[in-house]
Amino acid sequence: MSAHLIRRLGTVKDVSSFKEYLAALNLDVPCDDEIVVGPESPLRQPLVRASLKIGNRIAVHPMEGWDGTTDGNPTENTFRRWQRFGRSGAKLIWGGEAVAVSRQGRANPNQLIAASHTCDGLARLRAVLVAEHRRITGSTDDLLIGLQLTHSGRFSRPDVYHRAQPRILYRHPLLDGRAKIPDDYHVLADGEIRSIIEDFHRAAAMAWNLGYQFVDIKHCHGYLGHEFLSAHTRSGIYGGSFDNRTRFLREVVEGIRALAPGLEIAVRLSVFDSVPYLRSQQGSGIPETFEHLIPYRWGFGVDPQTPTREDLTEPTLFLALLEKLNIRLVNLTAGSPYYNPHIQRPAMYPPSDGYQPPHDPLIDVARQLVTTRKLKQRFPNLIFVGSAYSYLQDFLPNLAQAVIREGWVDAVGIGRMVLTYPELLWDVTEGRPIQHKRICRTFSDCTTAPRNGLPSGCYPLDSYYKKSAFGKQLTTIKKRSLEIADRARDGNHD
Ligand SMILES: Cc1cc2nc3c(=O)[nH]c(=O)nc-3n(C[C@H](O)[C@H](O)[C@H](O)COP(=O)(O)O)c2cc1C
Ligand code: SF4
Repeated sequence: MSAHLIRRLGTVKDVSSFKEYLAALNLDVPCDDEIVVGPESPLRQPLVRASLKIGNRIAVHPMEGWDGTTDGNPTENTFRRWQRFGRSGAKLIWGGEAVAVSRQGRANPNQLIAASHTCDGLARLRAVLVAEHRRITGSTDDLLIGLQLTHSGRFSRPDVYHRAQPRILYRHPLLDGRAKIPDDYHVLADGEIRSIIEDFHRAAAMAWNLGYQFVDIKHCHGYLGHEFLSAHTRSGIYGGSFDNRTRFLREVVEGIRALAPGLEIAVRLSVFDSVPYLRSQQGSGIPETFEHLIPYRWGFGVDPQTPTREDLTEPTLFLALLEKLNIRLVNLTAGSPYYNPHIQRPAMYPPSDGYQPPHDPLIDVARQLVTTRKLKQRFPNLIFVGSAYSYLQDFLPNLAQAVIREGWVDAVGIGRMVLTYPELLWDVTEGRPIQHKRICRTFSDCTTAPRNGLPSGCYPLDSYYKKSAFGKQLTTIKKRSLEIADRARDGNHD
């Protein structure tokens, strides 16, 4: 299906028309006609598991910033973003944003780092969020805040925006070429992995000392933790068998438990993946040729015979391992923003270096919802946070309420919508009308900006960014990339 056949959700007039549209796409996902207001709201029900107390079913996903100082401390823009996380009314703050465990592990030269010189900054971020949350909701004893700890692995870009410095676990037949990784490029040795594991231990202990209640050991989106899970072709103790590919997680957990016994450990997981996609001549996304690579051995949660399809056999084993390790908080996501963004964050409009959606993005939203439901049924004792809801736009509250009410997931995690309209779910459950002008329309500028070295933020709808000098720069960048795309379409390559 080409992009112009996809209906823009902003033009769907009401919930019943939206449900008809879902049915026309054969998508069997629940959606409530009315939003329940007040304490009876499914979205306002507390979630209590032993010592864990989460006051409602709204979660804020981590969203990496590109606005820290070059030494990894937060700036005023970072504080503003975290304050808005607090304003969302969400009682589960999943990580805030990816914080690198070392300078070398950063995905961009302005990413936050967990280190002794950033302690005060990370503590202040939490304090700002808590104060705003208290102002909005009146309580903080049922607020759970974690820090997402990451090493960017293959997508490390720690020092200079235009210079990738990949740290790879194995040679990837499709991704290596994209990053122009030469044949003799260094593959991380087991000893280097041990030292990264120690960085995770140190960072987690620091988060605990600063008052964060959990850390997420990031295993998603193509970064290092995720790459371990697909390291089938790596030799040695961190590759090959499932046991070896999950050794990184087990060793990280073991050290954290020794250093910070009271700290909860969580995992954000790309539960299925796909092959890398690229932009076709017409502009829409197509899978890169993979037929010569069957059985496909470079993915996690993919069918080796048809790697564009998921296979949940290993993800199920992985979730069983999490239970065994007494990890109770799991945030499910999919794919990677670098090579198959349409499955990770369904969008109507691609970022400037992306591709048009290969089919209706609602199909990708439903894919994440349905997969999460399947796994929730298999693992009722794990607390699952679901992803990819922002594309639902004005109908996000109706669908979010329904999936919680029907037990498809335990908490609804929100990403992009928080950048533009953090209070959406809190407001509707208070009985306030939706402010339609603030709804995220998935314009992807919050991705285009960082890809061009500018801070992340909602440029089209948040006047703070729109009116800034960065806003002007982004307009120029977008114009230029449209011209390039037009020339490519017309066949006038220069
Ligand atoms: C600007 C931006 C930064 C992101 N940074 C992170 C991150 O640091 N860690 C992470 O796990 N996911 C990150 N994501 C993915 C989101 O957490 C989320 O999974 C994705 O946007 C889909 O959810 P949504 O539809 O509500 O936006 C980021 C997304 C965006 C748009
Ligand atoms: S830039 Fe704003 S409207 Fe566009 S996807 Fe990001 S949050 Fe949504």
